[in-house]
Amino acid sequence: MKLLLLGPPASGKGTQASKIAEYLGIPHISTGDIFRENISMKTELGKIVKSYLDNGELVPDEIVTRVVVDKLDKGDYRKGFILDGFPRTIPQAKSFQRNYEFDQVIYIEVDDETVMKRISGRRVCPNCGAVYNVYFNPPRYKGRCDICSQQLITRKDDNPEAAKKRLREYKEKTEPLVEFYDKQNLLRRVNGLKPPEEVFDDIISIINPTTH
Ligand code: AP5
Repeated sequence: MKLLLLGPPASGKGTQASKIAEYLGIPHISTGDIFRENISMKTELGKIVKSYLDNGELVPDEIVTRVVVDKLDKGDYRKGFILDGFPRTIPQAKSFQRNYEFDQVIYIEVDDETVMKRISGRRVCPNCGAVYNVYFNPPRYKGRCDICSQQLITRKDDNPEAAKKRLREYKEKTEPLVEFYDKQNLLRRVNGLKPPEEVFDDIISIINPTTH
């Protein structure tokens, strides 16, 4: 199964992708996570992309496409993969399509107000990567990861300025992918405003209809 999760910032792509990856036993590839890991390890790639992420701007197409295609070319993805956050522009989608194709594209729909609220409430664990939300999914102990007890942090691009920029970038450059994949009859819509467990069930019933 080769799956793309598409949706605005904080629509729940990462939350759902890790659950689906576990359920299907296939890898979850998040370009945002790849970039953040490289930034924290101060690699060459990290140095190049840092200012884009910090400012809520998209990383140039050539860079992100090379990162993803290299990863897919070198790894063992015979059982498939879940891409979360790539492609995010029409040129990225066209480059990707030269070598790879998706079986389905899941479009997680949420409104702008929800995006901004979820971004302001998101807290992440710098150690194990677990994601929480002070409004919707708080940790058991305030500010501490349920899994590894590490102090939770706020992502650098989760401030109001960068968040508004990310939403603008999304509308201008990523939203056209909805029509792009719809025309290829690959797009399936899910209501991202439901609780995470229901969103997950809806996605599973789309990609694996025999189990529901
Ligand atoms: P990336 O990390 O992909 O950021 P994003 O697309 O803005 O998505 P988010 O990570 O903010 O949100 P999400 O949809 O994964 O939601 P989550 O599950 O965390 O990219 C970061 C940056 O990297 C980009 O800005 C860009 O600079 C660069 N980049 C990455 N890919 C690129 C590309 N292809 N091209 C160019 N540049 C690229 O959930 C959000 C919050 O809501 C959490 O707190 C969660 O607990 C909560 N939540 C989730 N689901 C629900 C629910 N159903 N109900 C209530 N709360 C929920």
